[in-house]
Amino acid sequence: MNQYDQFSADYHWLYSDGVLAGKPFLKQFERLLKSIPSDSKILDCSCGIGVHAIALAEQGFSVYGTDCSVGMVAQAKQRSIEAKKDIPFAVSAWNELPTKIDQVFDVAFCLGNSVGHCADKQEMISSFKGIRSVLKKNGLLILDSRNWERLQQVKPRFSTTGSRIRNGIRCIPLYVWTFPDRFEDEHLIEVALLFENEKAVWERHYNITYHPFRHSELCDILSSVGFVNIRSAFTEEKDLYTVTAQAG
Ligand SMILES: C[S@@+](CC[C@H](N)C(=O)[O-])C[C@H]1O[C@@H](n2cnc3c(N)ncnc32)[C@H](O)[C@@H]1O
Repeated sequence: MNQYDQFSADYHWLYSDGVLAGKPFLKQFERLLKSIPSDSKILDCSCGIGVHAIALAEQGFSVYGTDCSVGMVAQAKQRSIEAKKDIPFAVSAWNELPTKIDQVFDVAFCLGNSVGHCADKQEMISSFKGIRSVLKKNGLLILDSRNWERLQQVKPRFSTTGSRIRNGIRCIPLYVWTFPDRFEDEHLIEVALLFENEKAVWERHYNITYHPFRHSELCDILSSVGFVNIRSAFTEEKDLYTVTAQAG
């Protein structure tokens, strides 16, 4: 079972209502989305519960959503039905895209720090090859990542994404980080969701693992599989950064 399958039904608790409505996403990429033709075909290849795919469909774009987690794709389908948006979603790992999707896209988003789920450099290479093969020539890949180099220095033990109340239940997500000695080794985040209503307090928790990479390694791998014009917002101080690259 994929590590997101069980988490998928609770995943929305990580996000505020504004994030679920795609507001910060649309703001962050406003210029880019205005610069591409309105008939552009967009792939969200780590679609999760469908937040970005639905926001893009609501802007009038033709969108396709894929993710390797059956549970996340099921949630994305359900949320798109609720949003009355007819979006095709499919279960596919990045390296399976060329065999599972018989379309090519103008833009591919891979957001939410998803690349860190590749187990090693070989998987990063096969994943980016897969994504590149479903992009048109000069098609744009947009991904984001935590700054793993910075995290290794700061080594936060706890973090949260804020509290929210839905259907009379308050939830506070708490991330508990465990850093191994070696940068390359698997990193564990235990995501504890602390709930309360008028009668009780309870918790559910999920383990999420990551395999960090350095910014320079990411750019080298993108270049090695044929991406060009790689642009990055990485700085040593930033916690998160975005990279754009064109399929050469
Ligand atoms: C942290 S979630 C982010 C989801 C979504 N992009 C968002 O920002 O809400 C990471 C997602 O990447 C997906 N993922 C991890 N490895 C993948 C792979 N090899 N191929 C496709 N999706 C993958 C997971 O299933 C999960 O839905």
